[in-house]
Amino acid sequence: MNWLQSRREDPYYRMAKEMGLPSRAAFKLVEIQSRWRVIKRGDYVLDLGAAPGGMTAVAAREAGEKGLVVAVDLADVKVGGYENVKVVKRDVFSEGLEYELMGLTSGRFFDVVISDLSPKHIGDFDLLVLQQLDLLKQVRHIAFKTLRRGGNLVMKSFEHPEMRRYERETSRMFYKFERFVPRSSPRGSAEFFQIYLGFRRRGLGGGVP
Ligand SMILES: C[S@@+](CC[C@H](N)C(=O)[O-])C[C@H]1O[C@@H](n2cnc3c(N)ncnc32)[C@H](O)[C@@H]1O
Repeated sequence: MNWLQSRREDPYYRMAKEMGLPSRAAFKLVEIQSRWRVIKRGDYVLDLGAAPGGMTAVAAREAGEKGLVVAVDLADVKVGGYENVKVVKRDVFSEGLEYELMGLTSGRFFDVVISDLSPKHIGDFDLLVLQQLDLLKQVRHIAFKTLRRGGNLVMKSFEHPEMRRYERETSRMFYKFERFVPRSSPRGSAEFFQIYLGFRRRGLGGGVP
């Protein structure tokens, strides 16, 4: 089966199209949300790797009009008429990004940071996973600077021997940590989500202790 055919037969892809969602990735956040309710009404959500905007739409709906979603990506994010979304078209590695983000919230720390960042797939899986690990280290850096005490961090990752160490280091900073494979993750994919609940301190501190 070729790529185009398997995409047409993917029920989540079809559902996303029918519901006018920019991507099928939206359903992964729907599943996470229905299990842990990571986003609450009025929350400020930082969405890293947001384009084309499937998860952004879900986060905007869950946060509601008193909440805010700041969506960061190198590519264009479709905000689909949500007034509580601000888009930052930037590389997550750009220097000082965390201060720009805090400027957009007028200094309020985020309640939730989500990351669906993925490097461009160039065919070499080992390289992809290593690049993913670099992205996740940057996500953690940004989250530790911008998350409020008690906040949640959700990030997509791939299996890798180094990932366990990453999880051990990161989970020390939260009250609870779980791994989760959404049913809507692409079949045969090695992806899973790391769910960290209850940040133990407030942002703008240092790195991993
Ligand atoms: C799987 S897609 C995200 C899908 C999106 N969350 C959704 O729900 O529609 C991964 C995204 O990561 C972005 N990305 C990868 N590296 C990046 C970087 N260094 N800075 C910003 N965005 C990056 C890509 O541009 C791509 O849009």
